[in-house]
Amino acid sequence: MHDKKSHNSRRLALLLSALFLLLLLSGCGVLEDSPSTLTPQGPGAERIAFLWWLLFGLGTAVYGIVILVLLVALFRTRTSEHSRWRQYGKYLLFFGGIGLPLAVLPVVYGFTLNTMSQLNRTAEADELVIEVIGHQWWWEVRYPQYDIVTANELHIPVNRPVQLRLTSADVIHSFWVPELHGKKDLIPGQINEFWIEANAAGVYRGLCAEFCGIQHAKMLFVVVAEADETFASWLANQQLPALPPETELAQAGYEIFMETGCAECHVIAGTPADGDLGPNLTHFAGRLTVGAGIAPNNRGYLAGWIANPHGLKPGNLMPASDLSGPELQALLAYMETLQ
Ligand code: CUA
Repeated sequence: MHDKKSHNSRRLALLLSALFLLLLLSGCGVLEDSPSTLTPQGPGAERIAFLWWLLFGLGTAVYGIVILVLLVALFRTRTSEHSRWRQYGKYLLFFGGIGLPLAVLPVVYGFTLNTMSQLNRTAEADELVIEVIGHQWWWEVRYPQYDIVTANELHIPVNRPVQLRLTSADVIHSFWVPELHGKKDLIPGQINEFWIEANAAGVYRGLCAEFCGIQHAKMLFVVVAEADETFASWLANQQLPALPPETELAQAGYEIFMETGCAECHVIAGTPADGDLGPNLTHFAGRLTVGAGIAPNNRGYLAGWIANPHGLKPGNLMPASDLSGPELQALLAYMETLQ
């Protein structure tokens, strides 16, 4: 009876250890192609990653000690039961129950407080400010110092902290670029100050990290960090109104845009389109994604998006269109002029 019991607990212990290892390894597989806090590319994310590894190291050490003690308890022999182990057991209780937490918890607490204070920074007066407004389910992006409005894509100069002012037009969202910084909520009626900085030029994926409705998982964006000159020319281009269409096809597309309802929800600066319900499309063709980060911005996905936005993102506010094939081609040709 006793033997069977201890046999079972040994099995259980081995099973638990195997499960733990499996969990750990499955986590490693995810790192490859998703943006991870463990591949930090900015000073904020670096501090968070350091804290993560510290907590992970401490957690693993404590787990290792517990498993070791468990194995000793499981595999001890009966003859030694009444002598040595009993004696150690008493110290073990003091060490494990009082000593270990007393040593580990202040370290965790101290490093956490320290990281939190490092992540708080006061903005300099001349810093770039970007306002991000959450919508179900896309991101409005404004550069108030330059009078620029765009969507679902933030451009920032590399190696410079950028001030963010976050708010929401409807429900609570959360702004998260795992490789650059932690998360910050976007709350209706309130402005949350935040900042990001990238160490290297590149495209960093961002996401909404607070459940905000049916398409929360498809509320994505990108941060494009670029060298100063590239960023300056991006800023200059964004400040320009859209160019008038040059080809006949694009002109036809322009008319479709203005007459079939697109213009009631979208702004294209320099045209009569002034709806403010959806993303500003003035320089849409220059953006990397369609549908708030869910697909690459190319003709195929854009056509799919315009024809049936609910196929890609069910429940979003944009109505499906009933354009004919040639009309859709014309509209696409016009959209491609919005550089
Ligand atoms: Cu917005 Cu989740």
